[in-house]
Amino acid sequence: TDRYCVFGNPISHSKSPQIHAAFAAQTGEDIDYTAIEAPLNDFAGAWQRFVAQGGRGANVTVPFKEEAFRLCDTLSRRAQRAGAVNTLVLGKNGLTYGDTTDGIGLVRDLQHHGVALEGARILVLGAGGAVRGVLEPLLAMRPARVLVANRTAAKAAALAADFADLGEIHGGGFDAVVGPFDLVVNGTSASLSGELPPLPDALFAPGASAYDMMYGAELTVFLRWAETRGARGIDGLGMLVEQAAESFFLWRNKRPETGPVREMLRQWLQ
Ligand code: ATR
Repeated sequence: TDRYCVFGNPISHSKSPQIHAAFAAQTGEDIDYTAIEAPLNDFAGAWQRFVAQGGRGANVTVPFKEEAFRLCDTLSRRAQRAGAVNTLVLGKNGLTYGDTTDGIGLVRDLQHHGVALEGARILVLGAGGAVRGVLEPLLAMRPARVLVANRTAAKAAALAADFADLGEIHGGGFDAVVGPFDLVVNGTSASLSGELPPLPDALFAPGASAYDMMYGAELTVFLRWAETRGARGIDGLGMLVEQAAESFFLWRNKRPETGPVREMLRQWLQ
């Protein structure tokens, strides 16, 4: 049995162990996947101890993605860009390889929901780690343009500049937001506190989608707001499952079917 885990702090509410158990059952892979609360001041030590106990790989969640990035011996190109790692892989040589699957998870989930990205006008709210992690895969889908809007405008402008070689991307404050957009992605942590960024009412083009990287039993404040304005709301549950599937692929070279696992999680939420 090969050992994997998810590191976070706190970690008790993580759905990753159930998701990966379902992937393993489906693909016939013999793995053991647990949730480990790493100490806030010693993430590297937690990973080393796990490896010493036979760990082969791990997912990394809040607040350790940047620390995971720093401890890797080698990194994927997309992880280098993101400055964050959500997947650690122990190589045969004993070196630690880091990748980030959040962005591909978002893109796959959008595709699963039939959201067209090529040629789309996309607004991304927020300029923190969560947004940095998804910009490269989003831009790879050749949208018409991406606007990053953030409470702290300078952060959005700096972030956009870091990705400007990959496509038409700009950044600014919420006051600089002028629609319409075909897709609005909420990557702020404002939903957690039930807050909503100040946005103009006329934000959505006809047939537009609104995506919240968060999910829960109830629709998030952002999605409720968006649906009232005619957009189709999609929460981040599918992104969670898709990023997990991509991590599973990195470790086991097998692609699990995500559909049944989405269904399972959705039922648990209700
Ligand atoms: P994460 O890893 O979730 O991205 P982060 O790097 O701390 O966390 O980034 C949080 C993001 O949510 C930031 O874009 C933050 O805006 P600032 O850069 O101005 O701080 C945004 N955010 C948090 N609370 C918010 C609120 N109440 N309203 C609007 N934006 C908020």
